[in-house]
Amino acid sequence: MSDDGFNARIDALLADMTLTEKLGQLNMVSSDLTVTGPGKRGLPLADISAGRVGSVLNWWGAEETRAVQRRAVEDTRLGIPLFFGFDIVHGQRTIFPIPLAEACAFDPVLWEQTARVAAAEGAEDGLHITFAPMLDVARDPRWGRIAETPGEDPFVGAQFARAKVRGFQNGSPCAIAATAKHFVAYGLVNAGREYAQVDVSDRALHEVYLPPFHAAVSEGIAAIMPAFSDIAGLPMHANRKLLTEVVRDRWGFKGIYISDYAGIADLVSHGVAADLAEAAALAMLAGIDIDMMGFAYLKGLPAALERGLVNMTQIDVSVRRVLAFKFGLGLFDDPYRACNVGRPNTQRKRDRRFLALESARRSTVLLKNDNHVLPMTDSTGSLAIIGPLADAHHDMLGPWSALGEADETISIVDRLRLHWPHGRIMHVAGARLDSGDDGSIRAASVVAHACDISVLCLGESRHMSGEAGSRADPSLPAAQIRLARAVIDAGRPVVLVLCCGRPLVLPDWLVDGVDAVVVAWFGGSETGHAIADILTGSFNPSARLAVTWPAQVGQIPIWYGMRPTGRPADPNELYSSKYLDSPVEPRFVFGEGMSFTSFTIGEPVLDRPELRVGECLGVSVDVANTGSMRGRSTIFLFLHDAVASISRPMLELKAFRQIELGPESARKCASS
Ligand code: NOJ
Repeated sequence: MSDDGFNARIDALLADMTLTEKLGQLNMVSSDLTVTGPGKRGLPLADISAGRVGSVLNWWGAEETRAVQRRAVEDTRLGIPLFFGFDIVHGQRTIFPIPLAEACAFDPVLWEQTARVAAAEGAEDGLHITFAPMLDVARDPRWGRIAETPGEDPFVGAQFARAKVRGFQNGSPCAIAATAKHFVAYGLVNAGREYAQVDVSDRALHEVYLPPFHAAVSEGIAAIMPAFSDIAGLPMHANRKLLTEVVRDRWGFKGIYISDYAGIADLVSHGVAADLAEAAALAMLAGIDIDMMGFAYLKGLPAALERGLVNMTQIDVSVRRVLAFKFGLGLFDDPYRACNVGRPNTQRKRDRRFLALESARRSTVLLKNDNHVLPMTDSTGSLAIIGPLADAHHDMLGPWSALGEADETISIVDRLRLHWPHGRIMHVAGARLDSGDDGSIRAASVVAHACDISVLCLGESRHMSGEAGSRADPSLPAAQIRLARAVIDAGRPVVLVLCCGRPLVLPDWLVDGVDAVVVAWFGGSETGHAIADILTGSFNPSARLAVTWPAQVGQIPIWYGMRPTGRPADPNELYSSKYLDSPVEPRFVFGEGMSFTSFTIGEPVLDRPELRVGECLGVSVDVANTGSMRGRSTIFLFLHDAVASISRPMLELKAFRQIELGPESARKCASS
């Protein structure tokens, strides 16, 4: 049906709707199948039947959504269907690596593929919209939500945005609508503390924080969710200038704004509204269409109307957008559309698991490999597998993985046993993840002494990152540090495997004392399999860090694209930009990552000597695999504007390409 067709039907509906029915369309409620926010929950079925609910979050399952949809369609006076939303952040049933990990693959094709599978699984669960992709630029590992972001770089964020929007929205009949969140600059919360205030310069806003959202809008994103935070005192849920004047009017965003969980009611706690009526009016005037779990529109807008803070025309604009969204989803033609998709067959499930494996392998970053300790190709020796994450299942899925099938997730130790059929494997946890010592460090030390090599699996539990996962000290927990000391002191080669949702601050002696460092993040359903494949050389690692890894907590926030200072760090000059008690260099830089083969990259060749405004510069390089193993290299194109009227970052990423080469072969890699 054409938009004109919708419009006539929407006009007719609007003319017939009571105020309560209109506000119902703007009201999104949560069930308590999953808890993703504070306050009272429980699916209010009576409200649904009374037309006081327009959409539902945290309720899934083809049959379950069908039953609730039936209430909206059959019980309510107008029969307007609901839509169902859920946080499908990195997979629904098949869990892919957390976004911070997936960003390290630097591959938009992969990013799109994983989103497409996530969308299909969401659709099979009766869902119409995901609250993803998360497009915050994050440079502060204290902030737990760094795990959900594509890292620190706006260019990577924009490519990620485009790929995810395509993946979620373009795969008919199993596409779902996507939501770009959290608009905007949420990654800048003060000192990394969740939900805290934000101050940001106009330049940083426009050059760093807005571009991923702009990319999502250009790609046709269906929805945007404002951030819980403020900017310079104006909470994002009341920020008309950015939501409406920039995104709608200037960028041409045609979709719907969905508030974050109770974000409209929170305007009272922010201290910019005296009551729910004022909060509701501020959000409505800013441009927010749907109130997620705040009940501010339902309860506050009638009073706001009476006080003249809003008028019916403004309410109608949002109701019209919500109805148009539902028409666009096809819900008026078939309200049970998504409840019919059906479960995947065995082959399809297998393909999805293979994609999970591929994405986990491609997201795992090798950061140190002294004396070629990896890959471990001699599987006849003895192997100690130590650490609280060695036999973890659930934790490997990371945050936002409520429906991930943990019992189908193979652990590192189980998978390594398959790769090590002739050798001896000893396994001990040695310490707990995030609490005190459980007394088994001594046992771990005995095992480390008894084996030829130790694989030390350390990191975080999945609850230590994600929303409300801020840590003032994002280091390895103390018991794990003691465990690492004991294992290193055994004097045998040690491979450190880190599973975590953020770059963890590590002591120098630990990084120096181990022979290899492998960062697997939370790699999803196939993490254990992917790690074992890399440790044993069945897969050649290719991932690169999409985030700078600090050496010290005091260096945070830290990122690669800083501006030059008038007094660059100089160890011999006191009055230079440095610390008295720490280096300025990070532990690992953005883009760092190793392979089991070696590559050379030739001098860049430019396709023109000068560039005029509006022209495009082509750059190419010769890339050669000089080693003996097939591998994948990532070529980054950074620019620096040496003399400009405004001081520019020392490096700005403008393009990246992946290139796969067999042993001793070469190819040209071009920027466009
Ligand atoms: C709050 C989170 O900030 C947001 O990302 C999420 O989509 C909603 N809760 C719904 O779960």
